[in-house]
Amino acid sequence: MITLDYTRTDLQEDIFSYQQKVNELHQQLNDKTCLGNDYIGWLDWPENYDKEELTRIKEVAQEIREKADVLLVCGIGGSYLGARSAIEMLQGLYSQNKLEIIYTGNTVSSTYLYQTLKHIEGKSVYLNVISKSGTTTETAVAFRLYQQYIVDKFGVEESKKRIIATTDKNKGTLKTLADQNGYRTFVIPDDIGGRYSVFTAVGLLPIAAAGFDVEKILAGSRQAMKDLSDPSLRNNAAYQYAVIRRILQNKGKDVEFLVSYEPNMTMVSEWWKQLFGESEGKEEKGLLPASVTFTTDLHSMGQFIQQGTKCFFETTLAVDTPLHDLTFPNDESNLDKMNYLAGKSIDWVNKMACQGTVAAHHEVGGIDNLIIHLPKIDEENYGYMIYFFFKACAMSVLLLNVNPFNQPGVEVYKKNMFKLLGKE
Ligand code: PA5
Repeated sequence: MITLDYTRTDLQEDIFSYQQKVNELHQQLNDKTCLGNDYIGWLDWPENYDKEELTRIKEVAQEIREKADVLLVCGIGGSYLGARSAIEMLQGLYSQNKLEIIYTGNTVSSTYLYQTLKHIEGKSVYLNVISKSGTTTETAVAFRLYQQYIVDKFGVEESKKRIIATTDKNKGTLKTLADQNGYRTFVIPDDIGGRYSVFTAVGLLPIAAAGFDVEKILAGSRQAMKDLSDPSLRNNAAYQYAVIRRILQNKGKDVEFLVSYEPNMTMVSEWWKQLFGESEGKEEKGLLPASVTFTTDLHSMGQFIQQGTKCFFETTLAVDTPLHDLTFPNDESNLDKMNYLAGKSIDWVNKMACQGTVAAHHEVGGIDNLIIHLPKIDEENYGYMIYFFFKACAMSVLLLNVNPFNQPGVEVYKKNMFKLLGKE
């Protein structure tokens, strides 16, 4: 479903010269002998997911849709970005959805927490707390506040229905807490890290609660798994992307901008930044993943991109068919002088903006521009795209001889914070 167009790049190395290395790493991934091999459960998850758990996810999601006005999704990083990226991409930023989803547990801003607590007053609230470790401070701080709110408002018995924990199968603080309080639980598999977890209950429960067909998401990911199982750089778009990222960094491009033209794709970019940033940024290596949403950011970052320091390349994530389209109306008076667009589709205008921008950046600015084509905004395409990025990210990082599946650097700030907070 996804295609990669790299005709607007000036690659100073032959992409096919990487074939042998790619074959070796592909084999290591499949044999589970690569760096970080205890965290590659995501690789065959589209086929090997827990079918019984999926049935439970759909049942609980249906209950949430029937009973709740608000679903609080309480998690941070990989424990919320996937769900949010899917829901915003698939439903858009304004929707008729009766269920409001509030993402929390991803900040310790007192203002944010105070205002969300005020906002949910008088509403029927369900809470899905998501944490693999069960000890993440941002999530734990928010969880205790909402847990107490729900117990106070709805009572101890009712809170057992309204609070649902997604966490480790057997161990950890959140698992113990959930079991002791009688909360329902879903599992984050041991061999799947946070940023690779959107196809597990971490992502699927909130996405199903938002009303989307999670079977179709899994079907899209399964299709990608099949399409991207051939290591040949002639056929595998994810591996082409992985190799081109390395070639462009070798050429001195240390930053990659993911460019989108759809505001409902902004959280996909946020998810993508976490995936690549946390997987790749180690041992003083890696591309800095950045993102812009055009044409909005052409009026802020556009100047720098066109004429500033040339330390970056662009990867345009182009949506061929958007969620909705409109026809630009005629106006007899034409006082705004906009009748030259009368009868044209707004999406066509957006596509022309994209074409014009890519040409300006590449032909005039000399910027390498990769284009990833996503045919459509729907569940299958979401599943396909996410698996495409998983596979591309793993290969791209393994090409650097870096473990794509850990995040040792994140612990440094936590240690300092715990010390300052007086945690034992
Ligand atoms: O990708 C990752 O592993 C991280 O972003 C984690 O998902 C994030 O730190 C949250 O961790 P946890 O689920 O343990 O609360």
